[in-house]
Order: sequence, then C-alpha cells, then structure tokens
Amino acid sequence: MPVTEENTVVPQYELKRALGPLQLIGLGIGIIIGAGIFVSTGTTAANFAGPGVTISYLIAGLGCALAGLCYAEFASMIPVAGSAYSYTFATFGKFLAWLIGWDLILEYLAAASAVAVGWSGYFNGMMADFGIHLPAHLTTSPVVWNADQTFALSGAVINLPAVILILGLTALLVIGIRASVTFNGAMVLLKLAVVFLVIGFGLQYVTMDNLTPFIPENSGTFGEFGWSGIARASGVVFFAYIGFDCVSAAAQEAKNPQRNMPIGILGSLALCTVLYVLMCIVMTGVTPYTTLGVSKPVTVAVQAMGPQLSWLVPLVNFGATLGLGTVVLGLLLGQSRIFYAMSRDGMLPDFFAKVHPTFRTPYLSTILIGILAAILSAFLPENLLIELVAIGTLAAFVLVCLSVIILRKTHPDVPRPFRTPLVPIVPIGGMLVCFGMMAGLPLDTWIRFIGWGLLGLVVYFLYARKHARTPSYALKRD
Ligand code: ALA
Repeated sequence: MPVTEENTVVPQYELKRALGPLQLIGLGIGIIIGAGIFVSTGTTAANFAGPGVTISYLIAGLGCALAGLCYAEFASMIPVAGSAYSYTFATFGKFLAWLIGWDLILEYLAAASAVAVGWSGYFNGMMADFGIHLPAHLTTSPVVWNADQTFALSGAVINLPAVILILGLTALLVIGIRASVTFNGAMVLLKLAVVFLVIGFGLQYVTMDNLTPFIPENSGTFGEFGWSGIARASGVVFFAYIGFDCVSAAAQEAKNPQRNMPIGILGSLALCTVLYVLMCIVMTGVTPYTTLGVSKPVTVAVQAMGPQLSWLVPLVNFGATLGLGTVVLGLLLGQSRIFYAMSRDGMLPDFFAKVHPTFRTPYLSTILIGILAAILSAFLPENLLIELVAIGTLAAFVLVCLSVIILRKTHPDVPRPFRTPLVPIVPIGGMLVCFGMMAGLPLDTWIRFIGWGLLGLVVYFLYARKHARTPSYALKRD
C-alpha cells in the first residue's frame, strides 16, 4: 500500500532528540530495578520455586526481550505518548485500545502501589538502622494473601509509610517535579552499586547445600515448587522487568532511534537479566530459600553472610529505600501519561487531560491516580498486587507482538525506523512465552483480571465508545 496521508504516521510534537544509548539504558534501569529484585525474588523463592527462581528470571527475561523488540518497532513508528494503548489504537481501533488502556491503568496503578509496599519494608529497616522502631500495625499490610490463595488478616491497621510515599510523590508530580536525567542517573548508580556489592561479596558465601535441590520437589499443588512452581514464579518475577516499555515511550527523544532504541530497550533488559540471575544465585545460595519469605529479603541474605558484612545492611536498606522511591515516581508519571493519552482521544472525560494553569501538569488525573494508588497500598499486600500487574502487562505484551505481525501485512509501507527482526518468529515467540507466563498464574489472579476487564467493558459501552475520537496517528479508521 502506498504511503498516503491516511496511513502516514505523523508525530504530534517534535521533541529534542537528546537521548543517546547510555541515557536510554539509564532511563530503563531507573524504573526496572525495584521491588521485583529487592522483594519478590525472596518471596517467590520461598513460596514457589526455591533456587530455581533463577530459571524463572531467565524465562521472564526472554519473554521481555522478544516483546521488547516488538515495542521498539512501534516506538519508532508511532512515537506518541500512551505506549501499548496508542499502538493498539493505531492498529486495531478503539475497542481493543480501550481494553489495553484499561489494562494499563491496572498495571501502573497496582505497580506503583506494589513498589510502595516494598519500599515500606526497606524504609522500616532503614529507620531501625537509625534506632527508630516503627509500630508494625501501622507499617504493614492488614491483608495477607497466602501462597495457597487464601486470605488472612495480619492484625495491622494500615501501611502508613506506603501511603505517605505515594501522596508525597503525587504532590511532587502535581507541581511538576520529575526525576531529572541527572537525579535518575544518581539513583541508577546507587541501585547498581548496592546490587553489585551484594553480588560481589555474596558470591563468596554461596554454598551448594543451599542450592540443592535446585528445583525443589512439587508439593502436590500446581505452582508450589517443581516445574509448575518455576512457571508460576516466572509470571511473578516478570514484574521485575516491567519498566523497559517506558524506554519505548522516549522514542521521540532518542538520537538515531533506529540504532539507539533497540540498544536502550535490549541493553537495559540484558544488563538487568544478568544482574537478576546473579542476585538470585547469591540470595538462594547464602541462606536456605525458606528464610527469604520476608519483606526485605536482600537484607536477610546479607545478614546470613555473617557479621563481618554488617556494614552492608544499612547500605542495602538505604539504597533500596531511595531506589524504590524513584520507581514509584516513574510509574505514577507513566500512569498520568496513559490517562492523558486516553482522555486526548476522548476515551475518558476531558477532566483527565486538564492541565494546571501554573504548573502545566495534568494535575487532576495525577491527584486521582495518587489517591487510588495510596488506597491500594494502604491495605493490600505486595504479592497480590504484583500478580495483578503481571497478568495485565503480559496481556498488553501479547497484543503488541500480535500487532507487529498484523501491521506488517496491512501497512507494509509505513516508515519503520526500527524493524523487529525475524518477523513473524520473534513476535510469535514473544506471544508464546508471555502467554505461557500468564498461564502459570493462578486462577484467582485470572478471575480478578477478567473482573477488571468486565468492568472496563461496562465503562466502554457507557462512555468511551460514544466519545472516542480517532487520533491522527491511527492507521485504522473506526
Ligand atoms: N520492575 C519494577 C520493579 O521491580 C516495576 O519494581
């Protein structure tokens, strides 16, 4: 098909192309390394996979790399805010775009809440390092979600630090303070330093006793150890890679996107995969995996290395507290961009795109997101939130992979500064691995995910369908 006005993709704004490969990798790592590695590695090893959690990280990394190659094609072809939501609108039209947008709301909101809960654990540890012991009933989740899918009450009232973090960061976003490239760079270096120190010192204390059996025998229940446990764990630890999709959102700002976008996306993924795998080996190698089911497992692992490394404990608590805080900031910002894009296209009321006259930020949507995320983090445990995030994000990845194949057929001539290699093998591989991870997640998570989707359908038919406007970048006209 010839490139006509109808199917040519016109970027809405020309941003300065200032980001080179290193800045793009830094941008990715700033959001990627967070509660996943600092919290879920331990809880997942303790509950589902044992030392085999390393294999789960490799599977999740592979799924992300394949999907990441597809994201890179879209990011270079449709460089507008809104990520997978916008790509789906461009390809499939408003109905599926709405479902993905609705799905991304769940992803970013629940992810910000989950990381805030993880942050709270390390913040409490950091305060304890200063001799301040915060009361458990005000600093932990009142709801407990057990590995066997049952709920219990912990006796706590509210996770106050998580709420305060989210509301504080929301206030910063309303007045327009974002993590600058320099600040983000400093946080990335701090996080990397902590991870390198734990790996560097920890490798000497790894024992084969702790790593054997590498894949503990299945307990008789699907998802509890054995290969089904590895599958379930990969769906959970997939959370640790979320954030590389934010690199794709910076496509408009990348220098030489053909070369640098794949370097940014795949480079940050590759670096994180290597670090995650080493971190898993260290954590499950220095202490029995059964001891890691706590709110700050990296601290537990460092303590297990012996008293000579006690100086590292406060550094881990401090690095994780600052590092996880910037992840929450990035996720809250990402969510306000999705709301903004959906409202720009008429899917949500104009209210969500309303910009503050002085601060020039979408303040109403930022405040609404902050309040919702604060409520989730106040009462819900991290593991419940993480699985919801994972299933929602994986569904978006499957659709992005599928979209690449379809668009190559329907719009072969649209300029693609970056082309996914080996189409359709790479997208099909991405779909299979991502769907496989979804399949490993438990029925309860599927039911919640489907419930959220049904609620989305109601909102779609009551509001979005009537008000949606086809955006200028769309290739499909509804
Ligand atoms: N990947 C991010 C984390 O692990 C969301 O916190």
